[in-house]
Amino acid sequence: MPNQPEWKPEYSVNNELIDFQHQYLFSLCKTLHQLQGNKRNKLSIEQAISGLLDYIELHFSEEEKLYKRHPEFAAHQKLHQNLIQQTEQFVADYKEEKLELSELLDFVYDWIIEHITKIDSRYFKELENM
Ligand SMILES: [Fe+2]
Repeated sequence: MPNQPEWKPEYSVNNELIDFQHQYLFSLCKTLHQLQGNKRNKLSIEQAISGLLDYIELHFSEEEKLYKRHPEFAAHQKLHQNLIQQTEQFVADYKEEKLELSELLDFVYDWIIEHITKIDSRYFKELENM
């Protein structure tokens, strides 16, 4: 896992709005990545984390509006809920100093990339053919 994964054209789901939101998720992670390692950044890091969590929730609810007519909508919504819960747990563990910010970021990067390339891209492709 590279330290600073970037959005790549191969992550495109052929939906301009969702691609933009995915790019913005990467840029929020990148901001956090750049803040780490300096204790004076504690407040900025806390603010960036809560901004990232908020944006993940907003983004998922935007996606869900588009997925409503997909037959596996409920399964996708469940995946989103699980990702939010897991990320919140990682954030709680980070705040309790049970893990490093880099571990939280690695976790978020991993699921963002996996979710975009395996789930979102498949759903959008199938919606195009419905
Ligand atoms: Fe999704």
